[in-house]
Amino acid sequence: MTEPSRDIVRSVIKGCGSALPHRVMTNADMSKIVDTSDEWIVERTGIRARHIAGEGETTRSLGALAAKRALEHAGIAASAVDLIIVATATPDQTFPATATLIQADLGITKGAAFDVQAVCSGFVYALTVADAMIKAGQAQCVLVIGSETFSRILDWTDRGTCVLFGDGAGAIVLAAETHPDSRLSPGVLVSRIHSDGRYHDKLYVDGGPSTTQTVGHLRMEGREVFKHAVGNIAAVMEEAMLAAGVGPAEVDWFVPHQANRRILEGTAKKLGIPEDRIVMTLDRHGNTSAASIPLAFDAAVKDGRIAKGDLVLFEAMGGGFTWGAVLARF
Ligand code: UT7
Repeated sequence: MTEPSRDIVRSVIKGCGSALPHRVMTNADMSKIVDTSDEWIVERTGIRARHIAGEGETTRSLGALAAKRALEHAGIAASAVDLIIVATATPDQTFPATATLIQADLGITKGAAFDVQAVCSGFVYALTVADAMIKAGQAQCVLVIGSETFSRILDWTDRGTCVLFGDGAGAIVLAAETHPDSRLSPGVLVSRIHSDGRYHDKLYVDGGPSTTQTVGHLRMEGREVFKHAVGNIAAVMEEAMLAAGVGPAEVDWFVPHQANRRILEGTAKKLGIPEDRIVMTLDRHGNTSAASIPLAFDAAVKDGRIAKGDLVLFEAMGGGFTWGAVLARF
């Protein structure tokens, strides 16, 4: 006789939203700035265009707009939110946290708001922290936002990096709900995060308040990052699926960090995932760091690909190195 499954608290995704700067920059536009070509960028990365923040568009403004759209989509009032976590490596100011600025923009005065810094893995880290706080009973309704303006920390003379990144924001609303302890129930099933600081100098910004008193510019040894990406991403995806007791065939949608088409294809091949179950937006968004996963998720929910009840795997790898994966039923 099997025991009836007990009820547990789950962090359930109630809605999502996103925001992109108005200006679109194509690969042809890039080739007017640095010695590059549409052919090279598409072949090596899969990127065709990216949005670039203009005057008045910042990590705060994009994040606040994405959050408003996510609340609207969820049908939840801002007053219900008791925690805001913003994943960003490009805050409006060194402090206070961009999360508190967005909290003020949304007219929220209760609960807490803070930023999480894990660069491109930021959204996976923020989602992991939000889920843990909901399960610990510390929060009931959480806005998890990934918002970035990497165009402002790029070295626009370095063709090896400036063609790769874009700006944007995405957000989800998570709510505490009680459901049977089953992988068929909605909400976050498993999350796994990792870091290895020995690689801190492979992808970093060469400035900061405590060292140079400047903001600095993004520096990357692309080939080194690439080398580690496929292995780390595939390993953490397998770890998350194993912990949840599901195989790749049971996952309806893979929503990866959008860094490079070749990384996504390599990971898919390694795990035997058909490419038509991977949400890819990097062709039009570029790499938007912590914003890329919620931007891709929102796109696939709004165009009807990801439906309620679908099992979704989010994964990312970024500077630090940091990497992680979250498995959730929508
Ligand atoms: O989001 C966080 C995680 N980040 C990533 O996952 C990024 C991982 N890395 C990558 O995606 C790839 O390494 C890049 C797309 C950054 C670079 O691709 P690659 O195939 O590793 O190229 P490479 O850096 O080895 O450069 C190959 C050649 C070089 O020329 P030589 O030395 O062979 O003559 C570069 O100078 O391509 C040249 N190159 C370019 N050529 C035209 C580098 N950037 C460009 C460019 N346009 N924009």
